[in-house]
Amino acid sequence: MSEAASAIAAPHGAIVPGVSPQLYSRNDFERISRMVHEEAGIVLNDRKAMLAYSRLAPLVRDNAFTRFSDYLDRLTNDTALRTRTIAALTTNHTYFNREPHHYEHFETHVRPALVAQAAAGHPVRLWSAGCSSGEEVWTLMMVLLGADRHKGAEVSRQNVVALASDLADHAVSAAQTGRYPLDAMDAVPEALCKLWCTRESDTLSIGSELRKLVRFRQLNLLRAWPFEGQFDVIFCRNVMIYFDDPTKERLVLRLAQQLRPGGFLYIGHSERVSGEASALIRCVGPTVYQKPGGRS
Ligand SMILES: C[S@@+](CC[C@H](N)C(=O)[O-])C[C@H]1O[C@@H](n2cnc3c(N)ncnc32)[C@H](O)[C@@H]1O
Repeated sequence: MSEAASAIAAPHGAIVPGVSPQLYSRNDFERISRMVHEEAGIVLNDRKAMLAYSRLAPLVRDNAFTRFSDYLDRLTNDTALRTRTIAALTTNHTYFNREPHHYEHFETHVRPALVAQAAAGHPVRLWSAGCSSGEEVWTLMMVLLGADRHKGAEVSRQNVVALASDLADHAVSAAQTGRYPLDAMDAVPEALCKLWCTRESDTLSIGSELRKLVRFRQLNLLRAWPFEGQFDVIFCRNVMIYFDDPTKERLVLRLAQQLRPGGFLYIGHSERVSGEASALIRCVGPTVYQKPGGRS
């Protein structure tokens, strides 16, 4: 038995120490893992048996079930509960100014053209796909508005819209609330934070100039996307790490197709573009891709 397998194995067929297989069995974990893969593309390997238990046990209890198998049976005809179950299995770890080289690239190579595009009356569209609790989209919008209040306010009056979407409803709600602990923005340049956020007792709240630019939506990236327009910039970072290779390739192809010519795709530092998308976008920096055409 591998080290990982022995770590989760427990006497009498239990897969979580101290939890009877009558309540939570390997078969239950396999059902969970199949469901989350089919619906969200997320791969849960055997080492996640304990994690799945701890994330779902409160839902099992709150819905007055004792055995996971009974709870899972219920999900077959309760779509809302199934959606909550999948959301509970997502990993929403994120923070402001994560992978700062992306924001530096955006500020230097992308922002000037977008500001000019907006000033010329053309729409500017950005997408944080898999936005989690919003730190990514808010950082991006602060960088877009920049460190000059007057010029930033001018940009915020133009036809600029960012979509922030995530599979997990609880994450989208947190993103939309836009309130964070005081130290959450320590990694954001102070000038940006001071200009575009306000301090409210023990929290920092995203200011109105940023809020009016962002639309939030619960969206499963594996399903149909309810928009036709193309984006100037897509951030889809640290989302595909949970997917298997065919799912990653299908998603990155759709993202590439959704970019307008000249548009940029930013992915997480451990993610790669492969498959058919490689013919549509070219690497222009570490985990930064551009679709040829449009502006250079
Ligand atoms: C680790 S967070 C990354 C957040 C942010 N992009 C960042 O890099 O900091 C991954 C997010 O992807 C979302 N996610 C996972 N599978 C998804 C899917 N099929 N459709 C949409 N969002 C998904 C999760 O809910 C989670 O909030």
